[in-house]
Amino acid sequence: MKIGIVGAGAVGGAAAFALINQGIGSEIVLVDRNAALAEAQHLDLLHATPYCHPLQVRCGGFEDLAGCALVILAAGVSQAPGETRLQLLERNAAVFRAIVPAVVRHAPDAVLLVATNPLDVMTHVALRISGLPPARVIGTGTLLDSARFRALLAGRLGVATASVHAQVLGEHGDSEVLVWSGAQVAGMPLQRFAALQGVRLDGATMADIDTGVRRAAYRIIDGKGATCYGIGAALAMLARCVLFDEKRVLTVSTHWGDIDGVPDVTLSMPVQVGAQGATFHIPPALSDTEQQALADSARVIRATLAALDY
Ligand code: 2OP
Repeated sequence: MKIGIVGAGAVGGAAAFALINQGIGSEIVLVDRNAALAEAQHLDLLHATPYCHPLQVRCGGFEDLAGCALVILAAGVSQAPGETRLQLLERNAAVFRAIVPAVVRHAPDAVLLVATNPLDVMTHVALRISGLPPARVIGTGTLLDSARFRALLAGRLGVATASVHAQVLGEHGDSEVLVWSGAQVAGMPLQRFAALQGVRLDGATMADIDTGVRRAAYRIIDGKGATCYGIGAALAMLARCVLFDEKRVLTVSTHWGDIDGVPDVTLSMPVQVGAQGATFHIPPALSDTEQQALADSARVIRATLAALDY
């Protein structure tokens, strides 16, 4: 139950804090090329453990990742205000070429959870550099976007987020696809539940929600420089799925051989996640418009990968 976190910045730190708060795993090892940052995060997190769960927290080098069941990759440069995730590409690919081989050398059996942007491209790059089976390299993908979609719908409908089932697929980025056709609340189609509640979900409201989901990260980054709590919670939940073999179906980024004729692409689709990683791909039922948007999203990612020679 040992978890490695490479990259001890805002995202790595928030993931560690979520793990400690929820008592997921037994030991966390923080690795960062900025040793002072890793040590500071280690101390800060250590001081949380008396009031949370008694996980062991330490910082160290790549050799300290030996025995990890999973390693979170949160290293990289984060998005600057106004910058798209794809613009981060070259800088973060170089970071992964340096760290992924070291992670795999010291923790060859670990499942890799990628949180670095541009998420789908970095997950693909990590898969190729690592040489691991595709099931063992998982990106957080549209977990966050699906959470944002569910939260906005829940707010409009006055119902708990847990009762809303709605997915965002494709790129974790501007071309992502909100799957309105499959959204359900309390086991019934979204529009039917909305009608029962007396809530009008018309085109303008749906467009508002779409923008709210799609622009969420930009708004947060404009206001405070980075997003961290949502992704930290998503990483802790993913870690729990792997460590406890939960087999939850999640919208995470994994390698797909082909999406509507777009080959060799990594993007978010519903997959089952457990101890062996993302083992079961579940092709979703989509409307024609959503299917077309998903293919477009796959093309955006494939073109970026091709530009990088992946
Ligand atoms: C997010 O969507 C920036 O990818 C990060 O919160």
